[in-house]
Amino acid sequence: MEQYIIKGGNPLVGEVDISGAKNAALGILAAAIMTDDTVLIENLPDVRDINVLLDAMSEIGVKVERITRHAVMLNGSGIGGVSVDYELIKKIRASYYLLGALLGKYKKAEVPLPGGCNIGSRPIDLHLKGFKALGAKVTIRNGSICAEAEHLRGSHIYLDTVSVGATINIMMAASMAEGRTIIENCAREPHVVDVANFLNSMGANIKGAGTDVIRIWGVEKFHATEYSIIPDQIEAGTFMFAAAATKGDVMVKNVIPKHLESTAAKLLEIGCEVEEFDSAVRVVASKRLTSTNVKTQPYPGYPTDMQPQIGVTLALASGTSIVTESIFENRFKYMDELARMGAVVKVEGNTAIITGVDGLTGARVSAPDLRAGAALVIAGLAAEGITIVDDIVYIQRGYENFETKLQALGAEIQRINSEKEAQKFRLRIG
Ligand code: UD1
Repeated sequence: MEQYIIKGGNPLVGEVDISGAKNAALGILAAAIMTDDTVLIENLPDVRDINVLLDAMSEIGVKVERITRHAVMLNGSGIGGVSVDYELIKKIRASYYLLGALLGKYKKAEVPLPGGCNIGSRPIDLHLKGFKALGAKVTIRNGSICAEAEHLRGSHIYLDTVSVGATINIMMAASMAEGRTIIENCAREPHVVDVANFLNSMGANIKGAGTDVIRIWGVEKFHATEYSIIPDQIEAGTFMFAAAATKGDVMVKNVIPKHLESTAAKLLEIGCEVEEFDSAVRVVASKRLTSTNVKTQPYPGYPTDMQPQIGVTLALASGTSIVTESIFENRFKYMDELARMGAVVKVEGNTAIITGVDGLTGARVSAPDLRAGAALVIAGLAAEGITIVDDIVYIQRGYENFETKLQALGAEIQRINSEKEAQKFRLRIG
């Protein structure tokens, strides 16, 4: 099992290039099979979740041609069945996007119930409610969701909870339904907009993505397109907090600063300098950071995917901070690991009370999920001594070249596979 070994204490300094957004890419890849023409997708991140989804798409007959590490050509004309393989798909939650895409195109889909990060109970009732409203019959059979319709018909759908996945999934199916669909109380995340823009580039007629009402006029057929995925705002935010926690100075490049506003606002509030450029954000932390309170919210609020990164940073800030997780109920598992590094934290329900300490010390910790794993790496980079992070397979789901990008910023971090490699690292860094 691969691990990260980290010798903390170096401020991160330099420039880092952000990859394409994983969560946008998952929706866009699934949507790309809705045309029989060839689609070119660029700025694709080379991360595990994306590669698993591409494998699953190949399995059902999509022609997948990796042109470069970050570009892929897809052709969905040879799709032989609408039933997706369980072994591949159980690994990624966003496999459910194939439901909306296949249902829209073929009016029939069968996809195993999704897996993904264990960050709380993650129902998909809203996705199914949307498909039903469009006229599909939805059943659960042998662990799979089966959705089928003679005709998909536009509908008026109100989402009780703001859900990224449901918004994207319903948007995909509705874009090939007959007539007009209105989705209310939609998610406004940048990747919802990116998937809508991508669908529109294939000929869909979707208006209002990025607001809480999306209107869709169904079309019969999509056509070829070439599309470049937006930068990953969560990867960018992770590096921004890594700069803050290590008292560094990092220029985070290839980003859309507008997408990072809630993260930048919190960094400013706790005492960082944040400078915004056209497509970059620079974060400088030159003094001890101070406490704050933060509550996760749907976009444009503070993202739940950035909660562990700020939690780790606040563990080192002066004063007491309160972090409230309002999206997923099981996202504080990293706090126990952080406590092993010397953090003073108390979790009560969906709230964590963090009393900042002067410093953390290295320990062996385990990544409980993707974002919390990245946050524990940040903790290791800021801590004194050696940290080993187990279960980094979670981190590899969503961060491309994580350790290489950190090394370029001066971090002492290495991916290792054995105790022998750990010893070598210890000897090398002295
Ligand atoms: C997406 C992101 C994930 C992020 C999350 C919230 C992808 C692939 N993943 O996940 O990284 O943490 O948005 O920004 O884009 N809910 C229901 N019923 C449903 C669907 C959701 O009750 O049918 C609830 C969830 O339990 C949660 C909330 O709605 O409390 C938001 O979830 P949602 O936005 O759907 O998250 P995902 O799309 O799974």
